Amino acid sequence: MEIHPFGNSIPGVEISGLDARDMDADTVERLSLVLAEHGVAVLRDQPLTPAELAALGRRFGQLEPATREQYWHPDQPEVYVISNVVVNGKLIGNPTDTLSWHTDQYYLARPTAYTLLYGIETPAEGADTMFASTRRTYEALPNARKAKLAEIRVRASHSKLYAGKLTEEQIHNFPDIVHPLVRVHPITGAKFLYFANPRGSTVLGMSEEEGLALLREMFALTTPDEFVYAHKWRPQDLVIWDNRGLLHTATPFNKERYRRIVHRVSVVGEKPLCAAEAMA
Ligand SMILES: [Fe+2]
Repeated sequence: MEIHPFGNSIPGVEISGLDARDMDADTVERLSLVLAEHGVAVLRDQPLTPAELAALGRRFGQLEPATREQYWHPDQPEVYVISNVVVNGKLIGNPTDTLSWHTDQYYLARPTAYTLLYGIETPAEGADTMFASTRRTYEALPNARKAKLAEIRVRASHSKLYAGKLTEEQIHNFPDIVHPLVRVHPITGAKFLYFANPRGSTVLGMSEEEGLALLREMFALTTPDEFVYAHKWRPQDLVIWDNRGLLHTATPFNKERYRRIVHRVSVVGEKPLCAAEAMA
């Protein structure tokens, strides 16, 4: 396989000369290292069935079933369908785009490590997936600031994030948890900032306004255009990213004009650790 980095200040690489259906254990390990280092890997022209996409995800770890069963792929429940396409009066996938920067499933005790997104039908314009590195943000900070941020813990709350939209069972299934703001990557040992939607987050030991201002500052430092990779989709694109050290979001598209069908699988990660815990 050949690796072509997108640039020094933006995350991501394009990988050529690789058939995602046919990777030996060494290749999977190399790909995990590339993802740990660069955040995103783009593989073009990969013909993948839902079963092959799920099998590929399993090479990276245990698959995480999506919480909303109504959008599971009918033949392959580990595959989550994102789509605005209606068949027999029914949406075949989740039509709602997440148009704000986030890291996947921040509110879990073991948040998503890898997300694999696969394009079946992709709009000719819009619906880009954008990526920005929170490792770059961390590394650019002065040392004194790094040390201060390392003390900070954030309470992540699924119930607060989706307040008013959850059943008692869902509230019970996702209790609040606490993450370090500065987290260590389990493969590289590199430190990065770990934060998500301020709506579902409470910065401990700060007033609400102070906490909100801090998170807003971190988003603003991470996502200027010059630090963003915007993926423009083609059918048969496979995009794999390592959620650790990365934020992502999407751009809107014209839903009246274009069809979009994208398949996703998510791989369970580890408990986020701060530097002291990672060394212990
Ligand atoms: Fe996401």
